[in-house]
Amino acid sequence: MMLEVRDITVDYDGVVALEGVSFSVERGEVVSIIGPNGAGKSTILRTISGLLRAKSGSISFKGKEIHNLPPYRVVEHGIAHTMEGRRLFGLLSIEKNLLLGAYTQKNKSSIHNKLEEIYALFPILKERRKQLAQTLSGGEQQMLAVGRSLMAQPDLLMLDEPSLGLSPVLVKKIFETVKDINQKGMTLLLVEQNVREALELCNRAYVLQTGRIVTQGSGKELLSSDLIRKAYLGI
Ligand SMILES: Nc1ncnc2c1ncn2[C@@H]1O[C@H](COP(=O)(O)OP(=O)(O)O)[C@@H](O)[C@H]1O
Ligand SMILES: [Mg+2]
Repeated sequence: MMLEVRDITVDYDGVVALEGVSFSVERGEVVSIIGPNGAGKSTILRTISGLLRAKSGSISFKGKEIHNLPPYRVVEHGIAHTMEGRRLFGLLSIEKNLLLGAYTQKNKSSIHNKLEEIYALFPILKERRKQLAQTLSGGEQQMLAVGRSLMAQPDLLMLDEPSLGLSPVLVKKIFETVKDINQKGMTLLLVEQNVREALELCNRAYVLQTGRIVTQGSGKELLSSDLIRKAYLGI
């Protein structure tokens, strides 16, 4: 397993947000964590990133324990985290935002190659590379946020609700992009409230409710499960 989260419990000032959460991601997979607002999805990603500490449990990545590392060390180990709400630098150009994503990289020519790869993936970012990030539409900002995370050349990319706030057309486009990135070899951990799209895309998924994983399975299995159909798909 590339990522193994074992029995983690996380609280915010004594209020439990995650309780005994365990799951894993294998190299090359897309794994989704789905669940309603407030279930603890973002908390899982923040804990993996080192932004929060688990009270108990452990997290290993490529065979190394990472649950006591600060965020910059987690990035160095190869995990990138595209946060909810995108967190771009609106007053910097698109290209500067992308280059900031490569802050852990030292090799100039590999940074340049990566930049060209991202521009090939998102031609719109190349066309607008000199524009301020705040001038982009919601969907374009999401692409920039994903592009910036890829600049760190991670082994695992974690996306926190990439489709949030986007129109149906852009939601479709974002999921196509995620699929494309995976087909180029990236391992992905995807947190989503857009249940149908997330399940159609992923290899496996975990369903999180009030801080606990209540069910898991392949995307196909979950799409046809009664629980999911009733609770999330409304059919
Ligand atoms: N910074 C915080 N301080 C206190 N409670 C928080 C904080 N962030 C999240 N929570 C609480 O933790 C729970 C899980 O939140 P979150 O991980 O953001 O859920 P999700 O991403 O699934 O919507 C919620 O009950 C939320 O109110
Ligand atoms: Mg969230």
